[in-house]
Amino acid sequence: MKSIVISLLAALILAGCNTNDTTTTSNDILPMPKDCRLNSGSFKAGKSTSVTIEAADEDKAILAECVAELTQQENGNKANSIVLRIAEKIDSISSPEGYKAEITDENITITATSGAGLFYGVQTLLQLADEEGRIPCGTITDEPEFAYRGLMLDVSRHFFDKEFVKKQIDAISHFKMNRLHLHLTDAAGWRIEIRKYPRLTEFAAWRSKQLWKDWWFGDRLYAEEGSESAFGGYYTQDDIREIVKYAQERYVTLIPEIEMPAHSEEVLTAYPELSCTHEPYKQADFCIGNEKTYEFLENVLTEVMELFPSEYIHIGGDEVGKASWPHCPLCQKRMKEEGLKDVNELQSYLIHRMEKFLNSKGRQIIGWDEILDGGLAPNATVMSWRGTEGGLAAVNSGHKAIMTPGGYCYLDSYQDAPHTQPMAFGPYMPLEKVYSYNPVEGLDEKKAKLIYGVQGNLWVEYIPTEEMVEYMIYPRILAIAEIGWRNPQERNYGEFCERAVNAVNGLLAKGYNAFDLKNEYGQRKEALSPTNNCAKGKEIYYAESSPYNEKYNAGGGKALIDGIHGGWTYTDLKWQGFIKGGVDVTIDLGEERNINAVHADFMQMCIPDVWMPAEVRISLSSDSIAFREVAVIEHDVVRDEGLSFKNYGWKTEKAEKARYIRYKATCGKQGGWLFTDEIEVECK
Ligand code: ACM
Repeated sequence: MKSIVISLLAALILAGCNTNDTTTTSNDILPMPKDCRLNSGSFKAGKSTSVTIEAADEDKAILAECVAELTQQENGNKANSIVLRIAEKIDSISSPEGYKAEITDENITITATSGAGLFYGVQTLLQLADEEGRIPCGTITDEPEFAYRGLMLDVSRHFFDKEFVKKQIDAISHFKMNRLHLHLTDAAGWRIEIRKYPRLTEFAAWRSKQLWKDWWFGDRLYAEEGSESAFGGYYTQDDIREIVKYAQERYVTLIPEIEMPAHSEEVLTAYPELSCTHEPYKQADFCIGNEKTYEFLENVLTEVMELFPSEYIHIGGDEVGKASWPHCPLCQKRMKEEGLKDVNELQSYLIHRMEKFLNSKGRQIIGWDEILDGGLAPNATVMSWRGTEGGLAAVNSGHKAIMTPGGYCYLDSYQDAPHTQPMAFGPYMPLEKVYSYNPVEGLDEKKAKLIYGVQGNLWVEYIPTEEMVEYMIYPRILAIAEIGWRNPQERNYGEFCERAVNAVNGLLAKGYNAFDLKNEYGQRKEALSPTNNCAKGKEIYYAESSPYNEKYNAGGGKALIDGIHGGWTYTDLKWQGFIKGGVDVTIDLGEERNINAVHADFMQMCIPDVWMPAEVRISLSSDSIAFREVAVIEHDVVRDEGLSFKNYGWKTEKAEKARYIRYKATCGKQGGWLFTDEIEVECK
């Protein structure tokens, strides 16, 4: 499996261990260490290797188990040793998670200032070891760039059992990630036993349909546990204790997320008195005016804190509808009494109160970036998901931020050409795109220090099976692992990709259903290089009633005749977007030409409201006054899943003379966006 690859100079191939004469690295380490100098000799780990661990008792057993993975095979009674040792301080390492590994043909010594550092040193050895236990000699000095390196798994939209969660902890910790954020509560199901509120798991954890999409677009009913049509599940408190311990033994902190004040339909159906109208099945938001809300949330969080030792508790805070609050006497009373001027401040009131409660118990809050609305709680850490703005606003005001911007970190998006992939929620976001993210871009040193770290998020609305979860996580989480570990200046995608291919081979061999990068189809062919056509670089005029949208301007007024095609997603900003009035443009070729084709591509992705045109009309003119229509293309626009592309055009054997081409695309009754990337005109 392992291939110590590397550019060794021919003269050094025969060099033994302990030589300082070659500096090389390995395609097997991911994330790449800060400083890695390997040479051509090797240490052979095996049954006769003596292992010494000088560390705290609680770390010893964990580390012994990890090292045992290296010493399973015969190594010919070779007397060699592995020593793991805690030191007070290590030169050129400041992170408590750092380590130094010195590998000779006789001895491996890993030094770190913590058990986690030793664990990461051993992970490096495990990655380097070949099938016979051979580990290249050299010196590795390593530490992470960011303290927080996380994966979020949504277990509400579809439930995954504790064994599956543990399997993912094994994988992420191997790549030196140290946080698993569990999205435990949401409309689709409450997933954690709370002793004080049994209806949360007798009822709110179960729903009428197995697949989220059937349920969400269907009756959205909950069900009694054990009834015939009850789908879902939850972790008992014993399950949680077991997962937490398992994670601790891999130096992973589990961060629980309890959603508030929104995404809480399941709670408010089980306990309707906590909503503004007290009606089951009607509300997603807690009533902020009712003291019972705080009693409930504090009781829930008290049990959550008993189970999760994490300093940080995630309190959600995203996508709050706030629709019932303006009509609720208790919410209105609260606003008046507290001098809150709008519903944002009302939301912020709840978040502040929850922070105060958790701080009083020695814990800190993390919230999605909407917790900035109405004023950020004094000690809160912001998880930035709607782009990077929330995170930047947080650090600009002296708060910590965890960066999870949707365009780079949402793993529920397509990782390859959509037609080659199962249906996904988000647009094209291949490994390369994820890897290109730099969480501290543009920040000065002081603000960069407030970027606590980075996280990949897997929402599972459209991901009902364990196989699919793994397929979406791996290998893109490897890019997140490396972003979290390695200095952005030193990262290079081509080099990373080779290591990711090896890591995927390792994951596949261990039974993870990773997406195999060797089969990657890649970017849309049209987008790889500019094309030529006779409209390119000419003039184009937009009808006043059909302007392009500024956010999706694709580069401005010439974007549709610049020869540049978009890729698999409009979010690459090479597609021009039209939200009102559709497309209505006239191209001026500057002179009369013999035209034999006019066409343009559109895409459809219904989740973000992007649609095919219902009608396209193409007309030609010699004077820009009198136009003759040469094509009317009608299309029955039907809501579907996934992403599709369609070319709308006109083609003729017998070319037609014209100087002006009008291209008009109209949206269907459903409204929404039209996106096109280029109007191509072919001339004879
Ligand atoms: C989120 O994706 N609603 C945090």
